[in-house]
Amino acid sequence: MKHVALGVNVDHVATVREARGGKEPDPVWAATLAQLGGADGITVHLREDRRHIQDHDVRRLKDVVQVKLNLEMSVAPDIVRAALSVRPDQATLVPERRQELTTEGGLDVVRGAVRIGRAVGALKKRNIAASLFVEPLKKQVEHAARMGAAAVELNTGRYANAPYGSRRAQEELKTLKEAADLAAGLGLKVYAGHGLNYINVREVAAIPEIEELNIGHSIVSRALFVGLSQAVREMVQMIQTADRVLMRDE
Ligand code: PXP
Repeated sequence: MKHVALGVNVDHVATVREARGGKEPDPVWAATLAQLGGADGITVHLREDRRHIQDHDVRRLKDVVQVKLNLEMSVAPDIVRAALSVRPDQATLVPERRQELTTEGGLDVVRGAVRIGRAVGALKKRNIAASLFVEPLKKQVEHAARMGAAAVELNTGRYANAPYGSRRAQEELKTLKEAADLAAGLGLKVYAGHGLNYINVREVAAIPEIEELNIGHSIVSRALFVGLSQAVREMVQMIQTADRVLMRDE
């Protein structure tokens, strides 16, 4: 059984903090508890409007996190500067619109080639692995490879939005499998994320080429009831047993 790494996104711990503008709950505490629960990575998104994670959170996480620190970010110059200064292990480039509730759709690596290429180059110079969050489309994956990215994170949003077990979900899963196969063939590491939860994660975790999943909202939501370490432990267990359980159910 391959090991699929789990990156836990703790943005929404900061969302609750920002609702009151104080110090709690602290996303750095959350990162510590997620590590105790077995997270292989901690992910945060430093958004241009700083609606949840703040610059000081990223600096403190850099000191505290002992697993992979993955910074999701746009290619806006001040955000790229912040990343180069903090030096996370990995930077995931995502598109960003201010009005959106969450990241909506992958990067357009074809249209944004110049700005994205510039950001990838700057990150690489600082030994920060660059991952590009893209739709599971041939053109996007091929361009990501040409751009010198280390990895692609395939957007699982369309799969997650389709009713679980529906024909549409099956089709989206097939699209993800084809993109994962193409990306791995081009020498990219293959990650996935967005909208994954305790119901729909197994099918994605079982895709052979996928090495890492980044999951936030469902884990933080469950943590309200069972605690964060336990919520992470349960997700780790689901991911690590995904192919065995799916084979048994076939
Ligand atoms: N991957 C990327 C690139 C994202 O932007 C997000 C949302 O911040 C996630 C994964 C996690 O998505 P969710 O919170 O739906 O699990």
